[in-house]
Amino acid sequence: MSPRYPYSASQADTASHIINARVSVLQTKMVGQVVPSDAELENIFQSALAVADHGQLNPARFVVIKGDKIAAYIDKMYEVKTAANPNFALSQAEYAKNFAGVGMFIVAFAAIQPGKIQPYEQEWSVAASIQNMLNLFYAYGFAAKWNSMHKGKEAEFKSFLQLDNEWVPMGYLMVGKSADTAKAKARATYKDHFINF
Ligand SMILES: Cc1cc2nc3c(=O)[nH]c(=O)nc-3n(C[C@H](O)[C@H](O)[C@H](O)COP(=O)(O)O)c2cc1C
Repeated sequence: MSPRYPYSASQADTASHIINARVSVLQTKMVGQVVPSDAELENIFQSALAVADHGQLNPARFVVIKGDKIAAYIDKMYEVKTAANPNFALSQAEYAKNFAGVGMFIVAFAAIQPGKIQPYEQEWSVAASIQNMLNLFYAYGFAAKWNSMHKGKEAEFKSFLQLDNEWVPMGYLMVGKSADTAKAKARATYKDHFINF
């Protein structure tokens, strides 16, 4: 039986558990270059369009890098890193090893439209898209991590990705399988973050 609104209490509890239990996993803890199936990815990617989005501008854009495209992207990351920091301690091979378990990069952008919806609102909507995907990667048993793309380095990455546009970089997700399948995290209590007026 496919779930249908209104959901049962147990279905809602499962959704709540998944969202509350999600954790980020470092790329160095990812193993096997594993990615979700195409059917799972369809659900995960579709969740990026199921977000709060002022004006329904759909600002989210993603570039997916997987399979034999990954190595060149990691090499590009190393090139950009060492250009900014010539004393960077790791060799190219050592740096690449840190990403050896990553099965997929998803580079996130906001295609900002001019008009009455503020650019920051559009970026927030893309952040919500990324969080939806983080939650669903976790739900399907995968590991993911959201990293920033430094604004000062965006031109080099956009040129590498052949993006000749004004998209605002929102960072990138790394996806894989976690070596630490039991990973959990103690969270702050909501009680310190909510005030009854
Ligand atoms: C917008 C944004 C950018 C981030 N950029 C980085 C980053 O560049 N490097 C990093 O190690 N963590 C970064 N993080 C933090 C991690 O992705 C992660 O959220 C954090 O480690 C907390 O882990 P949790 O998701 O398990 O609570 C970023 C998080 C956000 C929301």
